[in-house]
Order: sequence, then C-alpha cells, then structure tokens
Amino acid sequence: MNNTTPSDEANLVQRIWSELQRATVDRHHEWRSPVLATTGLDGLPQARTVVLRAADATASQLVFFTDSRSPKVEELQTAPAAALVFWSKRLSWQLRVRVVSQVHTDGALVDAAWQRVSQSAAAGDYLAAQAPGSAWRAGADASPGAHHLAVVTSRVEHLDWLELARDGHRRARLVGSSVEWLVP
Ligand SMILES: Cc1cc2nc3c(=O)[nH]c(=O)nc-3n(C[C@H](O)[C@H](O)[C@H](O)COP(=O)(O)O)c2cc1C
Repeated sequence: MNNTTPSDEANLVQRIWSELQRATVDRHHEWRSPVLATTGLDGLPQARTVVLRAADATASQLVFFTDSRSPKVEELQTAPAAALVFWSKRLSWQLRVRVVSQVHTDGALVDAAWQRVSQSAAAGDYLAAQAPGSAWRAGADASPGAHHLAVVTSRVEHLDWLELARDGHRRARLVGSSVEWLVP
C-alpha cells in the first residue's frame, strides 16, 4: 500500500477500535461474538465463541466474562497467550487479535461485572451448581448467591486486519498505532 498516508493509518486504527467498542453495546453487531482460541491443557488448539464485554483502545484491552470453573480458565492461567477472531460481513472485515489474558476471579473488577450480570438474563449461567463441561446430572440446582463469574482481561499485542473488497483486498498488521501493510 504505497499510496496511503499517515492519516489513513490513524483512521484505520481508530475505526477498528470504534467498531470493537460498538460491538460491546450493540447486540446485533457481528463483532459481539468473536471466537477465542487458546492452547488446551493437552497442548492442542481449543476454540469457542465468547461475548465481547469491553474494548478499551487506550489500555489496548478487550474483556470477556466466563465461568471460573470452565476449562478455558485453567487453559488461560497455564498459557495466557490467546487469539480472538472476529468477522463482520457488513464491514467485510476480519480481525485476528493476539492477546495475553489475565483471569480475575475476585476483586473490584469481578464485583462490578457481577453487579451488571446479576441484573441480566445471563445471571443463571454463573449460578449453575455444575461446572461447564462436567457430566450432566439431573436435579443439580443453582445455588443463589454463590456466583462463579470470572472476568478475563486481554491485553492486545497486535491485530491482523483483513478487508475483502471486489476491487482488491487489503491487509494490515497493527501494533499500537503503527500500521504495516501486508499482502492479503
Ligand atoms: C453466541 C455464544 C456466546 C457465548 N458467550 C460466552 C461467553 O461470553 N463466555 C463464555 O465463557 N462462554 C460463552 N459461550 C459458550 C462457549 O462458547 C463455550 O461453549 C463454553 O464457555 C465452554 O467453553 P470451554 O469448555 O472452552 O471453557 C458462548 C457461546 C455462544 C454460542
């Protein structure tokens, strides 16, 4: 991309973060539910959908919630490097984000998140008596009060942005505010 200017590059970084931020508040935004890829405890790849809960451009951080007993938590505690992959048909944009994640199971961040989740229909997900992925047992009820909400903060290391377009695809690697154009 020889004909791009520094302002195109700043705009791209800004637009990406603005779409990420919008996805946290717009239920219909396609970037609301990225795929999170981790390294399994057996060293093999693992991937699943999560909901993006916060996107902070200044801190270069993405946030999702999970059940502290879910397998991904131990995976991230063992191997914090992970990837989030977003696709939006509307934008024709794919975003692959390399992150280093930190799992929070208590403290102010979790308390604030629980305040928010406990008012929503999702509250029951974090009150279930049985751990996600454990063998299903009939009759195991929720135990009100004892939630298992964990907040995962993911520091963005770099972004790989791909735009599909009829008149030519574009791809860029973004580290902070620097943009390197790549062959798509
Ligand atoms: C649309 C959608 C959104 C989801 N959002 C979350 C989420 O925000 N957090 C989460 O832990 N699991 C979420 N899940 C469930 C996960 O994809 C996964 O099945 C579950 O967390 C167990 O993953 P694990 O065994 O890798 O820990 C979502 C699933 C779907 C289909």
